[in-house]
Amino acid sequence: MSHVLHRQSRHTPPVAVAASGMHITDSAGRVYIDACGGAAVSCLGHGHPDVLAAMQAQVQRLAYAHTSFFTTDVAEQLADELVRTAPAGISHAYFVSGGSEAVEAALKMARQFFVETGQPQRRHFIARQQSYHGNTLGALAVGGNEWRRRQFAPLLIPVTHVSACYEYRGRAEDETAQAYGQRLVAELAAAIDKLGAASVIAFVAETVGGATAGALTPVPGYLQGVRELCTRHGILLILDEVMCGMGRTGTLHACEAEGVVPDLLVVAKGLGGGYQPIGAVLVQDAIVDAFAQGSGLFQHGHTYIGHAVACAAALAVQRVIHRDGLLACVQRQGHGLRERLVSAFGAHPCVGDIRGRGLFQAIELVQDRATKAPFEPARRLHARIKAEAMARGLMVYPMGGTIDGVHGDHVLLAPPFIATESDLDTIVERLALAVDAAVAAGA
Ligand SMILES: Cc1ncc(COP(=O)(O)O)c(C=O)c1O
Repeated sequence: MSHVLHRQSRHTPPVAVAASGMHITDSAGRVYIDACGGAAVSCLGHGHPDVLAAMQAQVQRLAYAHTSFFTTDVAEQLADELVRTAPAGISHAYFVSGGSEAVEAALKMARQFFVETGQPQRRHFIARQQSYHGNTLGALAVGGNEWRRRQFAPLLIPVTHVSACYEYRGRAEDETAQAYGQRLVAELAAAIDKLGAASVIAFVAETVGGATAGALTPVPGYLQGVRELCTRHGILLILDEVMCGMGRTGTLHACEAEGVVPDLLVVAKGLGGGYQPIGAVLVQDAIVDAFAQGSGLFQHGHTYIGHAVACAAALAVQRVIHRDGLLACVQRQGHGLRERLVSAFGAHPCVGDIRGRGLFQAIELVQDRATKAPFEPARRLHARIKAEAMARGLMVYPMGGTIDGVHGDHVLLAPPFIATESDLDTIVERLALAVDAAVAAGA
């Protein structure tokens, strides 16, 4: 019997024993092609020699030095690299150990910024329905997924949630994508007015929606409209790119493609590529300056912030992405993945939408393409697809509750940036078989 408290009480997952490149092997010798990087994490695949060497060298030199006593060369170099490649005005990086921690830190930075600058009345966050920002209490509070929030609701800070940018279901038939985006901006404006603009700290959003809704790309003009609105009211814009950032959508930061610069940019997952747990908040100079001119500190901290081995792994991952021109690969292979998905599922009776950007693509399952009616939640189609995929040696990231936390199913694909054409063929072939088997099993 396992003494690990696994994610599912009634299911012990297979034991992973080895991994290399695109594949993970379990203790029974079964090999799985990793088409989702775990949860959009393993951007370089598994066992990358350059990352392993960098980590080994760092462990031998110095594994850990608490940040209240020391900084390290490797943390400084990683911050230099992230600031060099960041959107305009970002001047510092704050390192933590994962996505939820990074979101928590961003929320607190935003609040402290207004305390430091004489606006302590600002206390509200606005975020979006169906978003996912992590499982710690602050991150869960800004998250908009009903199922994840429900039982913890009494513990969560109040947050206003506006509609997600979900074109497949949200845009009216007679509405252009641009008009839909502006309607969403108007909804946000109304929410700001209702709270009182001078009481709002920040708007929090995933640039491309990930885990809970499946690769929701913003419609043209939407995020620019959001940026203008926030700037007009002195409200901070926090973009959560924990899942969609660090190259996943074909630009280092997903917001680059939108022409939008956030005040706080949250990254994790692909930052360290799974080699070490690490996340970061990339911070605009004005915020850092407010701390420097005010209290002189960001009132936060954890034991493992700026961990030297985590920083070494992340620095190596980022250098490989740059050296090997992997952003161009993401763009090229992203098109290839999309083409294969369209050819396998474009006319599939149970696939209503194929969406995403770069190597961040999803299909949304429907019972009826004409009405977009989802499958009954009790069928747990997403879980069946995952099981059928695993049985075929394929790791994908399906999720239920796509539409409202209860209804809808999607499958997210986020393969490593090193995926070849033949890997993409295998992934989509196996996924098509898994989807058909799962749909047939519940019929
Ligand atoms: C957009 C986003 N933010 C935050 C998180 C939380 O990250 P972590 O699981 O590393 O705490 C996730 C995880 O999936 C995410 O997708």
